[in-house]
Amino acid sequence: MPSSTPAASEPTAVRTHRVTLENTGDTFEVCEGDRILAAARRAGIWLPFECGWGSCGTCKVTVVDGEVDLLFAEAPAVNARDVRRRRIVTCQTTPTSDLVIKPSWASDQPRDELPTADHRAQLVDVKELGPEIRRFRFQLEREAVYQAGQYAVLDVAPGLRRCYSMSNLSGSSVVEFIAKRYEGGPGSEQLFKLPVGSHIQMELPYGGMWLRDGDRPLVLLAGGTGISPILALVRKLSEIGDPRPVRVFYGATTRAELVCWDELQSLVAGMFDGQLHGALLKPDNSWTGTTGFVTDALTPYLGDLAHSDIYLAGPPPMVNAVRALLREQRVQVDRVHYDSFG
Ligand SMILES: Cc1cc2nc3c(=O)[nH]c(=O)nc-3n(C[C@H](O)[C@H](O)[C@H](O)COP(=O)(O)OP(=O)(O)OC[C@H]3O[C@@H](n4cnc5c(N)ncnc54)[C@H](O)[C@@H]3O)c2cc1C
Ligand code: FES
Repeated sequence: MPSSTPAASEPTAVRTHRVTLENTGDTFEVCEGDRILAAARRAGIWLPFECGWGSCGTCKVTVVDGEVDLLFAEAPAVNARDVRRRRIVTCQTTPTSDLVIKPSWASDQPRDELPTADHRAQLVDVKELGPEIRRFRFQLEREAVYQAGQYAVLDVAPGLRRCYSMSNLSGSSVVEFIAKRYEGGPGSEQLFKLPVGSHIQMELPYGGMWLRDGDRPLVLLAGGTGISPILALVRKLSEIGDPRPVRVFYGATTRAELVCWDELQSLVAGMFDGQLHGALLKPDNSWTGTTGFVTDALTPYLGDLAHSDIYLAGPPPMVNAVRALLREQRVQVDRVHYDSFG
């Protein structure tokens, strides 16, 4: 008897949909479940983007015709108005029919700082740095091109994607991430469970917290594993012998969580004009730095902020507290570059 149900051994066909750009007439195919932004890139069409995971809104386009699914329902960049106006984030949306979209621009070349590519990566080394904090080293099949301060989106398991910032510098086929395990957190738990030798997919680079040229002093702030991209920036400044004054502020709960502190001390000591300030919420008796939050360590230096370029990374409460302080100090928004880890 004929049946429309495929036999168990028969592979289920992946549905593909054709996406057309209204402005240029360019078209490309997207497998259902795949992201529009990534599929366009693989077809050689570069659409606007920056964060790659649904927070910045740079990739928003208007759906002129067709149906879509948002793959990350809590994407911070999507609001009710966007839904009413059929504005979607291409980095987290898949088509469920053929589609016509209207981006603000499209190009056949990537922007200089965002030559994003897919990489197959093998986990080759894991090192304990502190309590529930590890350094993960992945070997890629070819060189990864990125700027210090940027991050990758890792498929830590099928359908489970998380962002992790590179702590090492570009120029090799190895990428390193410093990550914390959050109990019950599906992404970090899965990353910590990956066996050495296993393979995953990742896309990189993403993000806008890369080092700008200039002559203003630099203030770098890290909370917890926010040290991963901030360490990359410090390593970069040190490698190029950047002459700008550099002030690094790094906060954690305990001294054991202030990972890579010794390396930071030695890099900052070798700079033309570098300083490193630590802040601990629960210090032991030997601690000589600030007791409190990173913002407490920053208080004596508030007068310097308005004249500096500022880079900060870490958990959202820390990033929000520092940004509020910067607003109070009337620091121009275009001098503040940040990654909020959530
Ligand atoms: C730009 C950026 C850089 C980061 N760099 C680091 C780092 O270097 N080291 C580190 O330890 N952590 C980093 N993080 C945090 C990391 O990505 C995870 O949020 C963290 O490991 C907790 O994930 P979880 O699943 O364990 O916990 P959960 O609390 O379940 O994670 C929730 C968070 O996961 C993210 N998320 C949820 N769904 C999706 C999705 N579909 N696609 C993308 N993201 C999603 C959101 O940020 C959300 O707030 C970074 C986050 C961002 C945004
Ligand atoms: S929201 Fe899509 S690139 Fe930032």
